[in-house]
Amino acid sequence: MNKVELKSNIKLSELGLGCMSLGTDYNHAEGIINHALENGITYFDTADVYDKGVNEEIVGKALKKYQNRDDIVIGTKVGNHRQEDGSTFWDPSKNYIKSQVKASLRRLGLDHLDLYQLHGGTIDDPLDETISAFDELKQEGLIRAYGISSIRPNVIDYYLKHSQIETLMSQFNLIDNRPEALMDEVNQKGVKMLARGPVFKGLLTSNSNQVLDDKFMDGIFDYSYQELGETIASIKEVESNLTALTFNYLLGQEPMGSIIVGASSKEQIDENIKNFDYAKEISRDIVKAARNRVKNEEYTNHLK
Ligand SMILES: NC(=O)c1ccc[n+]([C@@H]2O[C@H](COP(=O)([O-])OP(=O)(O)OC[C@H]3O[C@@H](n4cnc5c(N)ncnc54)[C@H](OP(=O)(O)O)[C@@H]3O)[C@@H](O)[C@H]2O)c1
Repeated sequence: MNKVELKSNIKLSELGLGCMSLGTDYNHAEGIINHALENGITYFDTADVYDKGVNEEIVGKALKKYQNRDDIVIGTKVGNHRQEDGSTFWDPSKNYIKSQVKASLRRLGLDHLDLYQLHGGTIDDPLDETISAFDELKQEGLIRAYGISSIRPNVIDYYLKHSQIETLMSQFNLIDNRPEALMDEVNQKGVKMLARGPVFKGLLTSNSNQVLDDKFMDGIFDYSYQELGETIASIKEVESNLTALTFNYLLGQEPMGSIIVGASSKEQIDENIKNFDYAKEISRDIVKAARNRVKNEEYTNHLK
């Protein structure tokens, strides 16, 4: 699998594993992680809040046995302050970020992090304070690079202009094509996109009909349930392999860093990896034809 290099020379596999849906059964999760690694995935995305820290522990433990490999990259996230009763509140303060990196390192069993990301954020945050927390962590050698996970154009714009972020994570797939509008600015700043939700919870897989009924009964964006079903059927006429189609669409977006796909079973990761290989065989004309059959989505809130 090809690698994409960040400014700080960290290399991410073009397909990354989103670890959020691995579950809390260690053996099951480890099987998925091993399978991903055996098939060329070397970038693993987690967050401190996934399963209340258990996800970081699982990812760290499963990858520990490969510690003599120097190609494995782990990204995690911070900002959702968990309280004793399990509830969270948004906390982008320097104190919090600088204390939590140590908790994440402990759970992951690492002495430094490759990629640390702010897990959201609003334009009302103390933005410069947050940025300086990440800069200090970098200077202190606790993190190699930092990024932001956001779908808010005004926040993204601020970080692109005023920080040294190397990655921007956003939901991005053939249906949620909103980030297309961000890509020029992201590219100009030498930042790489991490596309999460590429198979849209399974909607863009061979299981699309079931997922449509199970997870999209209320529609999404300006699509009703029915319109979404018709659109999926229409793009299937162009190319029946929806996952390969959305992967190829994303690979064509400059500057793509890694496509972060989630999976809750080995079979899903297997299928996703096979479809990633097949994606490269689909012509750009086919992808263009499919893109013309979906709506142009735009961010409607948190604008500049
Ligand atoms: N704000 C943030 O920073 C943020 C937010 C969300 C996610 N993320 C990250 O991005 C990653 C990916 O996001 P995501 O999980 O929302 O999106 P996704 O990759 O589009 O969806 C993953 C889900 O799709 C289904 N799926 C995957 N492959 C399949 C296949 N081959 N056939 C049928 N169904 C399949 C599974 O659902 P079932 O398990 O129901 O079968 C799986 O859990 C996460 O793991 C996480 O690391 C970050």
